[in-house]
Amino acid sequence: MRLFIALALPDDIKERLAGLQRGVKEARWVKPENLHLTLRFLGELDGHQAHDVDAALTSLGGEAFSMRLAGLDGFGEGRKLRALWVGAEDPEPVKRLQAKVERAVQQAGIAPNGRKFIPHVTLARFKRAPSPDLSSYLQSHSLFRSEPFAVTEFVLFSSFLAREGSIYRPEARYPLRWAELPDAASRGG
Ligand code: 2AM
Repeated sequence: MRLFIALALPDDIKERLAGLQRGVKEARWVKPENLHLTLRFLGELDGHQAHDVDAALTSLGGEAFSMRLAGLDGFGEGRKLRALWVGAEDPEPVKRLQAKVERAVQQAGIAPNGRKFIPHVTLARFKRAPSPDLSSYLQSHSLFRSEPFAVTEFVLFSSFLAREGSIYRPEARYPLRWAELPDAASRGG
């Protein structure tokens, strides 16, 4: 099975992002229902590996947090542009979660992923670079900022390539807990 670990996005956030998906002729826009923030791409795993990854993710014990998506950017420059994406306004909580996920999958025997994690939601992919380039598109949306949303779980998705494009299916969901607020005693009150 081809698997990846990601944050699913609330419907209203996906709708806001879908509003950005126009105005670049060469873009192959990601279908709004497929928009997500990848924490770890796993690729093809057999049943044993998938089971071990699931067990490691189940005992990961991550914390819930709130986040906003903000800012647009691309991977690859000029004629080598590969993707257009929206970033995370305050990336630290999602980076902490990603680091835990990375440790968990390695404990499950998956080889480390040497790449630096850049939290992003891919809006479009490119086979052909846009002409002239993306700068006016990026400028007109540079102030994009989503509403804040709560991240209370992450998801193991499978991915199938169908004629109509990729189909992502949630295989397992892993809840995150809100950190407990310090009680009156520990606040000294
Ligand atoms: P992307 O959004 O930056 O393209 C499912 O394919 C998800 O896994 C995508 O969000 C994709 O990230 C991510 N991913 C990371 N590495 C990948 C790879 N080598 N092949 C396919 N997808 C990959």
